[in-house]
Order: sequence, then C-alpha cells, then structure tokens
Amino acid sequence: MAANSSFVVVANRLPVDAATGPDGELVWKRSPGGLVTALHPIMQAEAGTWIGWPGRGDHTAPEPFELDGMRLHPVAVTAEELGDYYEGFSNASLWPLYHDSVQHPVFHRHWWDAYMRVNERFAQAAATAAARGAVVWVQDYQLQLVPAMLREQRPDLKIGFFLHIPFPPVELYMQLPRRVEILRGLLGADLVGFQRPLAAQNFLRLSRHLLGLRPRSNGVEVDGRTVRAGAFPISINVVEMESLAASTAIQTRAKEIRAELGDPQCLILGVDRLDYTKGIEHRLMAFQELLAEGTLSVPDTVMVQVATPSRERVEHYQVLRENVERQVGRINGDFGRVGVPAVHYLHQSYSRSELAALYSAADVMMVTPLRDGMNLVAKEYVAARVDQRGTLVLSEFAGAAADLRQAFLVNPHDLDGLKETLLQAIRAEPADVTRRMRSMRRYLRTHDVDHWARSFLSSLGATDAAGALDPGRSDAQSAGSDVGSADPRAGLESSE
Ligand code: ADP
Ligand code: F6P
Repeated sequence: MAANSSFVVVANRLPVDAATGPDGELVWKRSPGGLVTALHPIMQAEAGTWIGWPGRGDHTAPEPFELDGMRLHPVAVTAEELGDYYEGFSNASLWPLYHDSVQHPVFHRHWWDAYMRVNERFAQAAATAAARGAVVWVQDYQLQLVPAMLREQRPDLKIGFFLHIPFPPVELYMQLPRRVEILRGLLGADLVGFQRPLAAQNFLRLSRHLLGLRPRSNGVEVDGRTVRAGAFPISINVVEMESLAASTAIQTRAKEIRAELGDPQCLILGVDRLDYTKGIEHRLMAFQELLAEGTLSVPDTVMVQVATPSRERVEHYQVLRENVERQVGRINGDFGRVGVPAVHYLHQSYSRSELAALYSAADVMMVTPLRDGMNLVAKEYVAARVDQRGTLVLSEFAGAAADLRQAFLVNPHDLDGLKETLLQAIRAEPADVTRRMRSMRRYLRTHDVDHWARSFLSSLGATDAAGALDPGRSDAQSAGSDVGSADPRAGLESSE
C-alpha cells in the first residue's frame, strides 16, 4: 500500500470480524469495539490506515482493503508465532506481570524472539503506510517495541503509544527478562499514555532506575528527544450504550430476562472476559458464603455470571475455567432448586443489545478485578442505567474506581468486606441508589471515548486528528482546556 496515510493506528487486532457472504465468500464486518468507533471519524477524515492482525494464524495475510472509509492493513502472524508472541510473551509473560503478578508470569526465551519478530513486522507495515510527518498511534502491551522500531526507520513521524493495561511498579517490572529492550521500545514514542497517573509515575521512575535518565514530572529526555508520559483514562461510547438501553426493544428484553430468571427480588450480574484478573472466583465465594449463612437465599436472589471465552490455549486460563466451573457447580448443587439455579453461568459471547438488556435487568453489578487497567464493563453498566437505578460494586483495583467514585468500592481480597459491601449495595435506599447513579452518569457524559481520544491526540500535538473528532471545537478552545499538552493528571508529583 502507498505511504499516504496521515493517521495510522497500530493495534494487535484489526477492528473487523470475518464473516461468510451470500456466495460463501469471505466478508469483513466492522467490530463493535469502542476504540474503532471513537477513531472512525479521524480515520475517514485523514485517509487513515489501521494495521493489525486479522484473527487467524496464517503465513500470509489478506491484501489491504477498505471498509467504511478506513484502510485496513492486515499483518500475517503464523500459527507458531501466535503461540509464542500472543499466547506466550504477551499473555503468559507480560499480562500477569503487568497485573501485579496475580498469576505467576512464565518466561521462555523463544517467546521473546517471536515477540520481536512480530513487532518488527507491525513497525514495517506502519512505516510503509504512513505519509511524511504522519501521526502513528500504537496500542497496548503486545506492541511495546513498535515505537522505537518505527522511529529508527521513520524519524519524521509523530508517534504516540497508549497502554490499555496497568504499568507495574519498578520492583515488579524488574523481573522481566527483557526489561531494558521493552523500556527502550516505549521510549521511541513522543507521548506514552497510561490509564492512571500512578502508571505514568511507574514508567518515569523506571527510566531513572533502569537507564539512569532524569525524569521530570511529565516526561524525560532521551537521546536528545523529549518523551512525555501522562494519564488518559479510556472510556466508552456513552451515547451508543444509552440509546441502546433506552430503546423499547431492550427494555422489553430486560423484563423478559428477569421473568426467565423467575422475577427475583435481586439479580446480581457479572460480565467479564474469563480472565483470572477479574476476581470472578472472589465474587462467587462472597455469594456462596452469604447463601450458606442464610443472609441471602434462592430464588429471592440469583446471580448471572457471563464469562466470555478468552485466550483458551493459555494454561492459566484453562485452570481458571476449571476452577470457576467447579465453584459454580458446587454453589448450584448446594443452594439451587429444581429449575432455579443460584448462579446462571454463561460461557459465551453476547451482542451489544443482549449486554445492554442484561445491564438494564440487573439490580447489582459486581465488577471485582484484582487488578484492571480500566474496566469498560463498569462504565457500560452505568451508561446503560438510563433509569438511574441499579448499584455498582466496584473493585478499588480497577482503573475505573478513580472515575466512578460513587460506586460501592471494595477490596476484593477482603472476603468479609466484599460480602458486607455486596449487602450494602443490595439493601441501599432507592434515593441513595439514584443519587450515586446520577452522579456517575454525569461524569461519564463528559468523559466518553471521544474525550479520551481527543485528549491523547491533542497532547501528542496531532491537532488535525483531534479536530476531526469534533469539528466544532477550535484549537484555541482545546489549548485552554484540560486536554492541552500538559495533562494535569500526569506526573511524578501527583498521586492516585
Ligand atoms: P478487558 O479489556 O480486559 O476485556 P473491559 O471490561 O475493559 O475488559 O472490556 C471488556 C469488553 O468486552 C467490554 O466492552 C464488554 O462489553 C465486552 N464483553 C465482555 N463480556 C462480553 C460477552 N460475554 N460478550 C460480548 N462482549 C463482552
Ligand atoms: O484490555 C486489554 C486487551 O488486550 C484489549 O486490548 C483486548 O481488546 C482485550 O484485552 C481482549 O484481549 P484479546 O485480544 O487477547 O482477546
């Protein structure tokens, strides 16, 4: 593809799902993710290219193609590389390490070779697609080497990097066998964005500890360049979730769901990828103990736990699935009744509509990760509650806890505290429920995914791209707002 895009996104996955057309041919459909929805206007306005893996292990990738005004540039990842780069280094080494080592990170030297090779391939694709002086925005932990690899080939580019997951404290990061290479990879960017200020601080402190650099409050000089770091909490497409949830079809479906569950007095909901960081076992344990004590009972109270299949070839995930399913079986065996299980466990993916209906049907949403960069499910639940009802039990260890402060915040490791907080959420007075929900919804309305993208791109100095998100907003307005170049939430001095 010609080097003519002035805006390039580089992410592990392309924002598309493969489907079969009427004549059995392969067709691509845009996936419903928040990131692509937010970046779509920029992609259209700037002849943008999205570089990513198309979702199948293969030696060759489909040719670049256009979809909804975006150019999509598939990168081939072989089945063996998927095992080493994606399942191995990304999801068995980096993922657990960056999430506070809640599971032991596994390290194998040949995984690193594949991680480097695949990162190089993504960097090469970006170098090919980007016009002179273009803005390139690299996403997430799978591609941390890309900024430096790309700068080496194309010093003319403006390079941003955003990490969607936590960035660990120095003591933990130091366990990483290839720690210097990864840090140097990130330092290839002009701006490195994180979910929370503490993560930006960890990154800047690490640059001093590992490379002897001298970080300032919001950046660091390296090789004669300034690399800035700051916090840009990601969000969701609030309007989309609100209008979905407000529709008659979804409200009817929500009532149907409650009826199918036997119209319980209290419906507790969990919606997660089946990941050991999400604290699913902890919340099941809290529910189990409350049933065993007789504080809660079936069928007055039931739980629905949706757990999307995820990373199923990684051992940590296989063990988690066995544990969760055993636990659900035990709870249902002990406390369920004929036709009325205590926990409705659904190991499936659902449409946005069905998720919106589940969110609307719930009385209490439990989001209890042991560590999470943000947690978009918590924000989706709040956006869906157009009725201002429903309570949210939210772990302090989710990035979202700093944004949704009126949730029932909890430490999921403290089982008694978790039980107590769940009961408070179940028993909250209607006026208190509405007050909390209204306040969280007010916050979300001004802090949606557009706001996130505009904040990051303005701070990167990508003013054309940021402007494309909201044509009514002038540069002068941006410069005076909280999305200017010095993000107030960044920096070594700030605290969580
Ligand atoms: P993570 O990025 O770790 O998966 P988040 O909570 O930030 O966690 O984002 C999860 C996203 O996946 C949300 O947008 C949520 O709606 C979606 N999701 C979660 N469970 C399901 C499911 N069963 N079916 C479809 N989408 C799901
Ligand atoms: O939040 C981290 C993340 O890797 C996202 O980038 C991704 O959408 C999600 O988790 C699911 O992960 P995977 O792409 O490995 O299925």
